[in-house]
Amino acid sequence: MDWRISAFTLLCLVLSGVGAITVSMPKAEYEYARGDNITLPCTIQTSGDPKGGVISWYAEEILILTHYAYATRTDITQPYEGRVSIDIDLSKGQANLKLSSITLADNTVFECQAQIPGDDEGKRVARTRLVVLVAPSTPICNVQGKQEYGQNINLTCRSEEGSPPPTYKWETRDVRNLPRMQDPRTTTSKYQ
Ligand SMILES: *[C@@H]1O[C@H](CO)[C@@H](O)[C@H](O)[C@H]1NC(C)=O
Ligand SMILES: *[C@@H]1O[C@H](CO)[C@@H](O)[C@H](O)[C@H]1NC(C)=O
Repeated sequence: MDWRISAFTLLCLVLSGVGAITVSMPKAEYEYARGDNITLPCTIQTSGDPKGGVISWYAEEILILTHYAYATRTDITQPYEGRVSIDIDLSKGQANLKLSSITLADNTVFECQAQIPGDDEGKRVARTRLVVLVAPSTPICNVQGKQEYGQNINLTCRSEEGSPPPTYKWETRDVRNLPRMQDPRTTTSKYQ
């Protein structure tokens, strides 16, 4: 009886190891500063032959590069030429994307796809979001309206750039530069 259970267990283990590709990325989101040189990791676990494989990286739906392992060749699409490369070691299941001098245009979802001969079942695609950080520029502030007793005025403040979009907080101070209660008639609103 016991040997049957063991044989069954063994069979299950063997079956689960067959023909199930797993493409994965360690994190769902990465944050880097604009201008950084970065690496987005992608791991490919396969029971097939990775040396015959094709690995592609996309930004949203746009192709960045294709690596043909059987030809040891990488084709990079024109918009990415000169600033991306693939750091590939398929014996370790590694197909990392290297991006240099990232810009706000790289603030998007990246996708790693693998096609491996003999292993087409499973998870062939993995995605991650890149958040490109840009410090808010010094805010530009203005006063709209007549600065006279009894008049309504608008105080406006915005930064030309910042990623993610900056948030603002207003506070009021007295003549001794000490924080004071805001006038209850003051309202704050957010414009894009
Ligand atoms: C990124 O790499 C480029 C060239 O490979 C280098 O000139 C630059 O200094 C690097 N930038 C950073 C922030 O490390
Ligand atoms: C202040 O902003 C509001 C909303 O945009 C506008 O209706 C009002 O006319 C503005 N007031 C002045 C004094 O600019």
